[in-house]
Amino acid sequence: MALGPDLFEEIAQLKKERNAVILAHYYQESDIQDVADFTGDSLQLAQAAQGTTADVILFAGVHFMAETAKILNPSKTVVVPDLEAGCSLADACPPDQFAAWKAKFHPNAKVVTYINCTAGMKALSDVIVTSSNAEKIVGSFGPDEEIIFAPDRNLGRYLNEKLGRKMILWDGSCIVHEQFSERKLVHLKVLESDAEVLAHPECEESVLRHADYVGSTAALLKRVKESERQRFIVATEPGIFHEMQKAAPEKQLLEAPIHGSCPTTGACNECPHMKRNTLEKVRNALRDLAPQVDVPEELRVAALKPMLRMLELSKPRAA
Ligand code: 13P
Ligand code: SF4
Repeated sequence: MALGPDLFEEIAQLKKERNAVILAHYYQESDIQDVADFTGDSLQLAQAAQGTTADVILFAGVHFMAETAKILNPSKTVVVPDLEAGCSLADACPPDQFAAWKAKFHPNAKVVTYINCTAGMKALSDVIVTSSNAEKIVGSFGPDEEIIFAPDRNLGRYLNEKLGRKMILWDGSCIVHEQFSERKLVHLKVLESDAEVLAHPECEESVLRHADYVGSTAALLKRVKESERQRFIVATEPGIFHEMQKAAPEKQLLEAPIHGSCPTTGACNECPHMKRNTLEKVRNALRDLAPQVDVPEELRVAALKPMLRMLELSKPRAA
């Protein structure tokens, strides 16, 4: 018997009262994914934010994602469960430092920026990409164009290799995806030789070289559903296991091993930022309409342009 108030019911009620939509990233804890109206990876969530008719967006993810929703929806109220939920990639690229460095060393370069960045960085960019569309968007630039790719050096290096380009890379990384251990992964592959290795392109090259399939969170989910294999070693944040297991309950998922020790309970490589959010904080944010995420109008307009370019380039081409 439940002892406290039923949070699920409370959230459903508040959602109606506020005419709110809950958008949740696949790295959120399972309960939050279950109360969400829409779960997805960064691109799918940006598209959902662009299309919503709700008055309030509760964004269960990290700060740059909610900020992106606000950039797309200036008249809507955007709230988050925890204002401190940040991202090591966004932190790695302060816009003023980037602007000074670019002006000094690469004044004419185009700037392609991963969506994991602040509004200030978006405003300095020619186009935004996510791990779902980066290959297509970078590939749309002329072969000789000078491009800076920021802030994820691992995704940038992966794209350079895949597309045969020489983009200049900003030196940022994801504290979660750089934790996987090549040595332990090779060992696990020997023990679990029937398992397919799936990896997110935010992982280091030493890990990606052992992957059978590399893709965004949504692409890895699709791969689990569609692959003929029954067992997978997954090198990404384990929040996605919830949706993978719902989509393919008969399949077995193993976490890729990390450097250092790991509790036997699993979920060894959770994103500490994503996991700041809890169901209670979701309820509080809907109840109090706080904390809100706002973007000054001039900055918002500058950041909107490369976002809209990304969303336009991500539309499926007419046959
Ligand atoms: P995607 O949602 O694009 O797969 O990115 C993963 C991630 O690390 C989000 O912060
Ligand atoms: Fe940022 Fe990495 Fe966490 Fe995603 S998983 S929010 S890239 S720190």
